[in-house]
Amino acid sequence: MEKQNLTKKLLDWYALNGRDLPWRFKGGAHPDPYVIFISEIMLQQTTVKTVIPYFERFMQRFPDVYALASASEDEVYQYWQGLGYYSRARSLLKSAQTVVRQYGGVFPQSEKEVAELKGFGPYTIASFLALAYNQPTTVVDGNVMRIMCRLYHLKEPLDTIREIVKQKAVELTSKQHPADYASAIMDLGATVCTPKNPQCLLCPWQKACLSAGQPDVEQIPCRKKIDKKEICSYAYVIFNRYGDVFIRKRTEKGLLSGLYEFPWSEDVLFANAVNTGQTVTHIFTHIKLTLKIYTIQCDEVQGEGCFVAVSDLKKYAFSTLMKKVWQKINPVS
Ligand code: ADE
Repeated sequence: MEKQNLTKKLLDWYALNGRDLPWRFKGGAHPDPYVIFISEIMLQQTTVKTVIPYFERFMQRFPDVYALASASEDEVYQYWQGLGYYSRARSLLKSAQTVVRQYGGVFPQSEKEVAELKGFGPYTIASFLALAYNQPTTVVDGNVMRIMCRLYHLKEPLDTIREIVKQKAVELTSKQHPADYASAIMDLGATVCTPKNPQCLLCPWQKACLSAGQPDVEQIPCRKKIDKKEICSYAYVIFNRYGDVFIRKRTEKGLLSGLYEFPWSEDVLFANAVNTGQTVTHIFTHIKLTLKIYTIQCDEVQGEGCFVAVSDLKKYAFSTLMKKVWQKINPVS
């Protein structure tokens, strides 16, 4: 089948079957690039289902780039709490401030300028320019890779053919309707060409697809495993004589940056702490972290941080990991 024909078939399918999502505008670019900015950053490494309630709460509190740019980092974190990958929240705020200060509140349209905003990697640059400004960029993520590998029955390990697969995705991108095409290919990957149990009978590319209905379709693409590094550390829930608990804010860089936490380290920090026998495990992108939880009573703790009343803990943005730690200590809270 001709490439233009495939492109048109996908666009026709999308017009009838595309999902209605709170950030979506069907039939061209979204009239408000800010909506695309927030949703695309939220959708990095996070599913549509998880993002929807966060997006709606966030847009109510920060309805435009000015509202966000003038917010405090702590408040933005509050609205991000539970969504994970917290450096995104800080990038979001920084980018909003740049757009207000440097671009008078109007999001830039050139790839070079967008790439300089915080939080925009190659995928988000492409999706933002397509969805917000109808530019003919190509979005390439795991879903698009899977669709292309299946369409052309490419069975080599994905890591060895990434560039070829990207090129195939570029060739099919609509030059006339790039915004709708970007949404369409995302929806095809999410609802039809799924990793397991793909719905080949419903696929607009079924006739052309070299893997449709084949017994090996679920094995495509071929992914080599990336082993996660396993780290075991100690977390300390420190109470003072008044029953207040010690928390500290993480630095601005790295894992869970900017969030509050109980002190934890790969090294033993307090020799006389009591082992609760409780552990929590959390999986990050490249790390599996297990924390052994200790408690200790002590009135002065060296280093940054402060004691807060237990009833005030909810005022601080904690990562899911640290919420799990607190749950283990206070199962009823
Ligand atoms: N994943 C990334 N961006 C998306 C979008 N705009 N809609 C649905 N899924 C997405």
